[in-house]
Amino acid sequence: MKLAIIYGDVSTKHQLIMERAEDIFDSVLAVPVDGLKLVHGEEQKVLYKDIDLTDYDAVYLRTDDRDMLFAEHLVEILNEEDVVTQAENDTYSYESNKFYSMKVLAENGINVPNSVYTLSPDVAVKAAERLGYPVIMKTVKGVGGEGVMRASSENELKPVMDTMKSFEQEICLQEFKEHDGTDTRVIVINGHVIGYSRSNAGDDWRSNISAGGERVEANLSQKMVEDALTAARATGFDICGCDVIGDEEHGTSILEINGSFGLSEEMNELIGEDVVLSLVERMHERALENSRKEE
Ligand SMILES: Nc1ncnc2c1ncn2[C@@H]1O[C@H](COP(=O)(O)OP(=O)(O)O)[C@@H](O)[C@H]1O
Ligand SMILES: [Mg+2]
Repeated sequence: MKLAIIYGDVSTKHQLIMERAEDIFDSVLAVPVDGLKLVHGEEQKVLYKDIDLTDYDAVYLRTDDRDMLFAEHLVEILNEEDVVTQAENDTYSYESNKFYSMKVLAENGINVPNSVYTLSPDVAVKAAERLGYPVIMKTVKGVGGEGVMRASSENELKPVMDTMKSFEQEICLQEFKEHDGTDTRVIVINGHVIGYSRSNAGDDWRSNISAGGERVEANLSQKMVEDALTAARATGFDICGCDVIGDEEHGTSILEINGSFGLSEEMNELIGEDVVLSLVERMHERALENSRKEE
């Protein structure tokens, strides 16, 4: 079985996946997303140098938000060519836009923070009055806490909205969910759910590890597990990470769903499971099932 791992600019963790995959797959190839070429004509191909990834058994994507339009096309071609990926054809259209994913999750009965998607700073100011201050401002794309801001009054909100518009950034509003400085990353690998919590760094209300947050053990509630499974199903992910805020007492909400979620040895230790290995084993299991189906 052959596995390719496609990685974007901000992904450093594909080496970790490579290490595990090399023990399980017959061959493993790491491919930078910028090196890919999608070819349409008599045949469709996904070329990296002269290697056609449609000949691979499985491809695991670790693209980041900037590559998402490309990722949408890529996944569709791979799926059509019967290559196993961790996503369905539409998955990255939800994943790539935090506010579109809110819609899909809400439609599937999952609690999400009240969110307003608008291109107009003036409409945003009016909407913020309804949502109540403080209000969260988010660029629709963004990872690692970058692009997530907070305003406590109209005077703080309006200049940011104006500036973002001039930088042609789509920025949207969200109700601020009071929290104790932690949130939870719930990882879904097929039906298997594990996770950890993240505690913020000092005064930062964002808990992203890349923004200085620290991983701590999580006590996943039954609701978090069920919601994460529903979110994965609704967005078509076989493998993903959901960011959850809140607790059992005050209620939980899903903030976003990530295709390329953080992986590390420290995370494995904290969870008490080799999550990277579980991920690779799942891709291998599906590749095997797929090859048997073809026979
Ligand atoms: N509506 C919200 N209320 C309170 N905190 C939030 C809200 N949205 C985001 N945060 C905080 O900011 C962090 C980053 O937000 P998130 O939507 O997950 O974006 P990113 O893609 O940058 O991780 C979250 O993990 C959480 O700590
Ligand atoms: Mg997040």
